[in-house]
Formats: sequence, C-alpha cells, structure tokens
Amino acid sequence: MAVDLLLGLQWGDEGKGKIVDVLTANYDIIARFQGGPNAGHTLEFDGIKHVLRTIPSGIFHKKSMNVIGNGVVIDPVVFVKELEGLDQFDIDYKAKLIVSRKAHVILPTHRLLDAASEASKGKAKIGSTLKGIGPTYMDKTGRNGIRIGDLELPNWKEKYRALATKHESMIEFYKVDIQYDLDEMEAEFFEAVERLKELQFIDSEEYLNQALKDGKSILAEGAQGSLLDIDFGTYPFVTSSNTTASGACTGLGVAPNKIKEVYGIFKAYTTRVGSGPFPTELFDNVGAEMAKIGREFGAVTGRPRRCGWLDLVALRYACEINGVTQLMMMKGDVLSGFDSLEVCTAYNYNGKEIKHLPYNIEPENVTPIYTKFPCWKDDLTKMTNESQFPKELNEYIAFLEAELEIPIKIVSVGPDRTQTIHR
Ligand code: GDP
Ligand code: IMO
Ligand code: MG
Repeated sequence: MAVDLLLGLQWGDEGKGKIVDVLTANYDIIARFQGGPNAGHTLEFDGIKHVLRTIPSGIFHKKSMNVIGNGVVIDPVVFVKELEGLDQFDIDYKAKLIVSRKAHVILPTHRLLDAASEASKGKAKIGSTLKGIGPTYMDKTGRNGIRIGDLELPNWKEKYRALATKHESMIEFYKVDIQYDLDEMEAEFFEAVERLKELQFIDSEEYLNQALKDGKSILAEGAQGSLLDIDFGTYPFVTSSNTTASGACTGLGVAPNKIKEVYGIFKAYTTRVGSGPFPTELFDNVGAEMAKIGREFGAVTGRPRRCGWLDLVALRYACEINGVTQLMMMKGDVLSGFDSLEVCTAYNYNGKEIKHLPYNIEPENVTPIYTKFPCWKDDLTKMTNESQFPKELNEYIAFLEAELEIPIKIVSVGPDRTQTIHR
C-alpha cells in the first residue's frame, strides 16, 4: 500500500482539516508530519465545530488510527487542553492516538523566546503565532532539543533544567520587556507532561512502514501551507518546518517512492495571516467582503486574515514543488454574488512579464497581471452535485485546470463535512 499526502498550497488555512476529515473514511491511518500548535484545523459536522491543533484530523472517525509523527513539535500544555476538548465526544484517544518518540517538545521558555524574538524585531516581526515554534525547531536543528522519548527517561528534568536556564539568559539578551512567571508556567508544563505520558509513545517510522507492509492505507496530513515552507516559502516570513511534500518523508520516515497521490488544497481566493509579501492582496471593499463572508479570522490567534485574489503564479509554483496530482478547491461559495472575479496569471516583474515565482515578491518588484471573469450568483452551499453548478463556476474551474494542468477533484461549498462535492 501507499501513502497519500494532503497539503495546503497557499499561506495556510486552506481547509486541510475539513478535507482530511472527509477523506478519513478511505484510510486506516492519518499521520501529521510537521508543525505544531501553530496550526488550527477546523472540522464541522452534526452542527458542531472543532478546531484541532496537534491532533490529526482523523480523530473523530471510529476506525482510523492517528499518528503524530517525528516532524511535529508538541506543546504538552496545549496538547492536554486539546485532549480535554475531546472528552465530551467519547473518543478513546489512548487507543487511537499515538505519538512519535522522535517528535520534539515545546518548552515554556520556547514560547517566551518566540515572544522576545518577535518583540525585538519591532515592525519587521514575522507575526508568529507565539506558540514557540521557531525556537523549538532551532533547538532541534541545533541538536539541543528535548524529544518525546526523553520524557520516559528518569533524568529528563536535568536536561530540561539546563536548557531552560540557557533559554532564560537568551531571553535577557533580547532586552525586551516580557513579563512572565516561569515557576507557574513550569508547574503547568510538568503536570501536562504527566498527562501526555498516559498516551502511547512509539517508534512511528517503524509503525508506519510495518502498516504499509500489512496492506494498510495512510493519509499524511500537512499543516500550514507551501508558501510558509522554511525553504520554499516567502522567507523569512515563513514557519520553521518543511510544509511541502518532502516534509512528509522526513516528518514520518516514509520513503519518497511510497507516496502516491498528492492532494493540493487551495481556496478559490487567497488569504494570509501574519506579515510578509502577498502580491494579490486587496485593500478595498472586495477584500473586506471576502474576509467578512469567508469569516477569515485565524483559528489559533483570532487575528483577521488578509484577503486577495487567487494567485496562479504562486499556485503553479506550489503544485510543481509538491508534485500535486489532484486539486481541491475550497470556499467558492464565499465569492457568490461578487460583481466579477480576478485571477492573477502572471507578474509584471521589474517591467517584464513572468510566470514563475521570483526570489523577491515585494510590492516594489512585482505587480500582478489579472484575467477577469464573470462571477457566479447562485448560492452554492446547498448544492450536492456538480451538475447543479452555475456556468460561471464551471468556467472558472475549467480555466484553473487548464492553467495548472491538474484536475480539481473536490469542490468544497461550505464548512460542513457534507458540503463537499466530488468530481
Ligand atoms: P486549515 O488550517 O487548512 O485546516 O483551515 P482552517 O480551519 O484554519 O480554515 C479554514 C476555514 O474555512 C474554517 O473556518 C473552515 O470551517 C472553513 N471552510 C472550509 N471549507 C469551506 C468552504 O468550502 N466554504 C466555507 N464557507 N468555509 C469553509
Ligand atoms: P494551518 O495549519 C496560517 C503563520 C503565522 C506567521 C508565520 C510563522 O492552520 O494552516 P509560526 O507560529 O509558525 O512561527 O508563524 O506562519 N502560520 C500560519 N498561518 N495557518 C497556519 O496553520 C499557520 N501556522 C503558522 O501567522 O505568519
Ligand atoms: Mg488553520
């Protein structure tokens, strides 16, 4: 059996959680491969909305196993709160949720370092979610981190103390005014670690490869989006992990030749939270309408998401890097009734028309070139079949498929699990 891979093609919040939940019925195992509680994956069904942070989006299905892979960073405090949120839903997470021993632990001081680093940058800040993601991955690659497997060792608190003490001197180095009570944060952290230890810690690469040999199917769930990738995103305004397809190999321990389908998710327009360039961003009423109708507020921080037209230059780039085999278009329902639509098909880059994403996409270098479309007027949210689609939506889909040379296999017409149309 093979691994299928699902990831976001824009700047995150494309609707990954919803689609993983929809697809879970077809898989034995759902495995998260990178990121941490900076993610907010929203699922809606039976009139209830759930936001998952570190737990894979397959957790609500009885049959499937859920794996948190080695590429993920886990904050025990956030994680335990997330588990508590599931308590009312009768989910046997001690049996259904397993954690890689090689995943790294977010310490309270990692969160403080994130805040100190951001405060010291002033206007140049990344706009991080302040969940300690950057500092934790820095300790991972710097070979100083604490891993989930370490928590099983009797002397792990000594290692913890040494690292936390080092972090405290680093926080001072930033010379910013950050108020905190580390004793209180540590008490909460140690308590959460004990609860976390009630779960099964495993060698997840071995578990997943054995599952493949046993004929089980795996869906790898990405977090963030391709343009937030540490290598290929809009650096430095990115997250600290590989959000693109290769991240699934390193974040789970599955070989590239085990990956079959690559599902690429995108919104029918574009959004971004936090700082950084966004060529098709709208600052007018149209952008404000997208934000309002699409309820574009961050699932983690509640910050308003910046909105703009679909950017095919960026989307083409993301499809290429990830080897996308199937596309899924989300939130077309949000655009119903707009006067017209625009899609960026190329950039004017310092006076020259280009179709690839250049090194620098700051506004002084790049002006989007748009193609205009008539917009559909009908409400899509009650539609259950492609045959009900308005002509304008079909034309939009056909245009995107022709430009990207990849089929759009799912069109999502609302946040609920049932508002999903397969083509
Ligand atoms: P993720 O991080 O990629 O899982 O996406 P988020 O959950 O952060 O953000 C997607 C938001 O859009 C959530 O509030 C979803 O409930 C919502 N959503 C997903 N698909 C659709 C859709 O097709 N239409 C509408 N209107 N909302 C959607
Ligand atoms: P999901 O999985 C949208 C953004 C932050 C910031 C930058 C770095 O829900 O799509 P970090 O906390 O990772 O150091 O922040 O990345 N960011 C996200 N934006 N969706 C996410 O996750 C994000 N995770 C991080 O806003 O600009
Ligand atoms: Mg999200």
